[in-house]
This record gives sequence, C-alpha cells and structure tokens, in this order.
Amino acid sequence: MREQVLRQGPSEVLHGLVVGQRRAAHHVVRLRHAGLLDHAAEATVDRLDPDHEIVGLLLFVHVPSFTHVPTAIVGSNPRAESGWKPLAGDAHKVDAAAEQMRELPTIEEPVHVLELSEREITTLGDEIRELAAERDAVILAHNYQVPEVQDVADYVGDSLGLSRKAAEADAAVIAFCGVHFMAETASILSRDKTVLLPDPEAGCSLADSITASELRNWKSRHPGSIAVMYVNTSAEVKAETDYCCTSTNAIQVVEHVLREHGANAAILFGPDMWLGSYVERITGRRMELWPGECHVHAGITPEDIDREHDAQPSSDLLVHPECRSSARWIEDVAAGRLDAGAVHVLSTGQMLDHVREHPDGRFVVATETGMLHPLRKAAVAAGLTAANEKAVCKYMKMTTLPKLRDSLRDMKHVVEVHDEIAARARLPIERMVSIG
Ligand code: 13P
Ligand code: SF4
Repeated sequence: MREQVLRQGPSEVLHGLVVGQRRAAHHVVRLRHAGLLDHAAEATVDRLDPDHEIVGLLLFVHVPSFTHVPTAIVGSNPRAESGWKPLAGDAHKVDAAAEQMRELPTIEEPVHVLELSEREITTLGDEIRELAAERDAVILAHNYQVPEVQDVADYVGDSLGLSRKAAEADAAVIAFCGVHFMAETASILSRDKTVLLPDPEAGCSLADSITASELRNWKSRHPGSIAVMYVNTSAEVKAETDYCCTSTNAIQVVEHVLREHGANAAILFGPDMWLGSYVERITGRRMELWPGECHVHAGITPEDIDREHDAQPSSDLLVHPECRSSARWIEDVAAGRLDAGAVHVLSTGQMLDHVREHPDGRFVVATETGMLHPLRKAAVAAGLTAANEKAVCKYMKMTTLPKLRDSLRDMKHVVEVHDEIAARARLPIERMVSIG
C-alpha cells in the first residue's frame, strides 16, 4: 500500500495525510487520543465496519488558521472501480486533494546499495584518506551508513554525537556522510568550515514532513508555546524553533523546558509523532504533537518485533524511539506483559553503549539495518537480529565511497546555510548540544 502526503500549493490551503491500511487504525487512535478528530470524523470512525476494506485515511486541516481538525476521512476499496471513496467530509475536496497527493517512500521499495569488491574498497579507502589529509578534512559518518563508509570515517556516531563532533572539529573541511539536515547542522555550528555532503540528494522523509511555514502556522495557533523540534528538520524549521533535540536527549530537553518555563508550559513537539508519544509516556506530560514520521522506523511494525522476539524469546529488544511502536513497549512493561530488562528504547548511540555493556547478549534490533555494522564491531560475540530486514533508509545509502572520493577531490556538493537562517537556527541547536 502506498503512503502519500498532500501539500496543496504555496498557499497551503489544505494539508492532508494519507496513510496506508496498516497505519490507519493507529492514526485514528492517535488522533482521537490527541483530541484531533471532529464530530463527523468520530462518528465515521465509530461507524466503520471492521471488515470494510479501508486502505487509507485522508485528513484535512485548514493550514492558515490551522485548526488541526481533520475535515474528511476517506477509505477506498481496492476492488472497487471508483477509487477514493469519501466516508465523511466533502467529496469535492477529497477528489481535488487526491489529485495532488505525492508519494512518500516506503520500506517496500527496493533500495539500491552499491556493491564494491574488497579491492575497490581498499583502493578507494586509500584515495579518500589521502585526499582528506590534503584537504584538512574530517570525515563524519552516521551509524546507518554502509559499512565501508563507516570504516573510512574519522568518527561514526548518532545525531547528537555527530553534531558535537562537528562543533569541535579542528579541520578546514567536514565531509559529512549522512543526510542533508545533518550537514546543515554541521554548517550552522561551524561557520568557518566547508561542509561537504557527498550526495546532495540525500534527504530525509521525516525532515520533509514539516516546513517552516507549517511550523509558523502551528505556533500561531498556540501562542506562548515552546517549540521543541527533533534535529531531523531543515535549517529553516530550526530557525523557527526554541529547542532542538535528538533521540538521545529528547526526554532531557523536554524536562529542561519544563524546569525553565514552568511545569505548565505548553510544548509543541515535532515532527516525529512516535518519538513525541514516547516522550509523553516517559515524562507523563501531554504535548501538542506534529503528525510526521520517518518512513523507515514507521515501517517496522510491532508484529515484526513480536515475530523476531517469539523466534528468540531469550533475546532483549532494542527499539529506536522513532519506531511507531516505541511507546507501546513501555506500556507492555508497565502492564507486566514484558520484563523491564527485556526491552530498551534507545537512540543508535545508546544501543551501542548497551551492547558494549552486554557483549554476550542476544538482541532484536528495531532500527535502520545499517546499525548492525557498528553493533557487530562493538560486540563480536553478541547475537544481533534485525527486527525487519527491509528497514533500509534509501537516503543514508546514497553515500558511497566513489561519491565521497569525488566530493573531496573536487570539493563539490558544499552545503551552505544562509547567514540569517543560520544565526536564528544556532541557538536551538546549541541548546540541544549542551543538554544531556
Ligand atoms: P540517532 O542517530 O540520533 O539515534 O537518529 C536516528 C536517525 O534516524 C537519524 O536519521
Ligand atoms: Fe530520515 Fe528515517 Fe532515513 Fe533517518 S532513517 S535519515 S529519519 S528517513
């Protein structure tokens, strides 16, 4: 099933989200929990026949006033010829919107990963190290990069670790093997350095789920609120943000905000709703959540994790908080359905620390599969199984050794952030880097 998101033109009259069947029920629960379903939508949801083949939800919100109330829900029967079938709301709007939907990636699509021979890897690795020395470049790589890129880097780590390394790097050039928002963050923190992104197309579905004008509209609907945005956002979004956070320190950042701005401070948290739900669950504090997600982590289902865990019941679960089921595991522990020691919701860097502390352990790993490489290097005797082998981020896999070599050789694909945006985005990033 395709998942699609709708944005209608620069005026953003409508914003809609269409989700696949597997996610539809969960979104209804989530939206209901957040009080976002209007009466018509509630009534429609109540009327839904569980056997009805609903394959999507289309949720409309008026962006200028940003009421954040879905005004239509549609379902579609794949066997019906008519296509989208409105179940509630305005059929005309549904048709107009359906025409403008654009597809989002899913983990069902095959991801091309360049295969290199051992000899090519050695030759390219030598060239890259030589070029890095010539250019006075430091090579930073995220834990999800392909193994040979991780192995040639000076530092491999999670989003927080990479931001800190970028801020303190003693080099003229940063070659960032990651995705665009990470290179932008490095450029904002290190204005005097040239930041290279070996493939300028390396984006992020989560960062794409909110724009600066959407955030401005959201804030205008909640005057006085504090905007806490995950680091997976564009520089323009960060410029509208009060505090950034990563999955390593999201809880500490929210706790810090509540200490600094008072326990009743209203918080807008985005764009990852699953990380947001998890933070709410741990802090016991409701926030306004933006309905965005990473297609890779949202694609790892609770059923995937259950299946792998059932196959190896003695293994522990390592679950990234971007996974759509992250809050569920905490609830399972709270309800006594799972042993507290058997499930750990962790950022990629925290997963590494955990496995280093338990080098003989057995783990089901629910995150992007690139993570298995640093985990295996950190604990050779550990048993490590991916919760879903298809959880491959096509953006992270765009960086290859030939592209890194070419970027350093030709000093190409420089990531630049406009001075005015960088000046405004710097404070929330610096707050993030200093917390946790
Ligand atoms: P962390 O490395 O901070 O855990 O984030 C994961 C991620 O999805 C980065 O894109
Ligand atoms: Fe973005 Fe998800 Fe890929 Fe991370 S794994 S870069 S959040 S799409």
